[in-house]
Amino acid sequence: MPSMAVMVMAAMAQSTYVLSKSSLFRSSFKCFPQISARFSSSTATAASTLSSANMLRHHKGRTTVASLVERGGVQIARDDVVRDEPTNNIPDTIFTKLGMQLHRRNQHPIGILKNAIYDYFDTNYENKFVKFDDLCPIVSVKENFDDVLVPPEHVSRSYNDTYYVDPQTVLRCHTSAHQAEILSRGYKNFLVTGDVYRRDSIDSTHYPVFHQMEGVRVFSPEDWKSSGKDGTAYAAEDLKKCLEGLARHLFGAVEMRWIDTYFPFTDPSFELEIYFKEKWLEVLGCGVTEQEILKRSGNPDNVAWAFGLGLERLAMVLFDIPDIRLFWSNDERFTSQFAEGQLGIKFKAFSKYPPCYKDMSFWINESFTENNLCEVIRGIAGDLVEEVTLIDNFTNKKGMTSHCYRIAYRSMERSLTDDEINDLQWNVREQVQSKLNVVLR
Ligand code: DAH
Repeated sequence: MPSMAVMVMAAMAQSTYVLSKSSLFRSSFKCFPQISARFSSSTATAASTLSSANMLRHHKGRTTVASLVERGGVQIARDDVVRDEPTNNIPDTIFTKLGMQLHRRNQHPIGILKNAIYDYFDTNYENKFVKFDDLCPIVSVKENFDDVLVPPEHVSRSYNDTYYVDPQTVLRCHTSAHQAEILSRGYKNFLVTGDVYRRDSIDSTHYPVFHQMEGVRVFSPEDWKSSGKDGTAYAAEDLKKCLEGLARHLFGAVEMRWIDTYFPFTDPSFELEIYFKEKWLEVLGCGVTEQEILKRSGNPDNVAWAFGLGLERLAMVLFDIPDIRLFWSNDERFTSQFAEGQLGIKFKAFSKYPPCYKDMSFWINESFTENNLCEVIRGIAGDLVEEVTLIDNFTNKKGMTSHCYRIAYRSMERSLTDDEINDLQWNVREQVQSKLNVVLR
């Protein structure tokens, strides 16, 4: 029987989910309001209340957190992001990740993979694709959702799934948030790489911050006229050819298959899977851009394709990286294993430290969600928590529901002491009770 965590993970998998030269959007990074999925077919309702998200707010003053993050020329003030208001659900653990931009580190697996994809596009499209990789991750709800036609009731808009700065402003949950604006500015071929943020459960493949790359290509009627196909068929064919080539560039001669799916921003929509190490692996989501997006961006006569891919998911496979937390490690035993331009390197685990499991049971209430629980646990244990799994779930005759979660604590860098783990667990129990209003059993 798959555990609940696995099932939730499957349903909400972080799928698919530079212009360094130009400063076009850079100003948006510094001055906060320029403020300028789970998007595939699985749209089960996971509405959560504002109040439950709010319960997760960090108690100010408990930990000392820098008031400004600045990395790679990016400055974001804590007060712009973490606010003690019911409509803000951003913890300090997330604030400290803003601006880390792993995708801009050329010796980091995420940067190496980004550059390998750039190489593919540069070689095959004569440097036509303009690259954006430092756009501000703080975007408006309009950009993140409305502009790419995400319906008002879509699960990804909930406070349970997305980090809200305020009711109009979010941490982008996908790089698609930039599509419409860049199209409006007249770009016809572009790639957008960036850090994206999603509230989620905890296991070796999910982390609340990860990296995506988006690609968009626009065609004009002259492009498809002579082909005898209509614009949509022409774009879909070009899209598939382009992405099959990309998959071969990254993975070699692998078997591939196309799966029909749904995204709000494309029609038709597809997922590309490759057969790798005896498993079908979802590589990306893509499709022919909804005409409404092109119309609104001033390209009514054009047709376009778009794709989005998760860099961690692919990097874990390509570099043999077993746990997504490793990408954030500064341990030299991790960082020293990778080199600029080298996609083929396989990560060698430096001895695996033992896990320690702690179970906790409680009666849940109506606003309880697993994402909220995981946020509390991460707030205390940070990257020392490896997995949170629902191992028991029952409802008694009075209609009260009990959940038992198993928390796996494991550092990737050292052995944890019993005292340390007991301390963490004690804090977790206390905060789960006080912040989530559940009753421990
Ligand atoms: N934004 C989607 C996600 O995060 C990925 C995606 C799918 C992007 C299809 C696209 C697209 O541009 O056409 O799950």
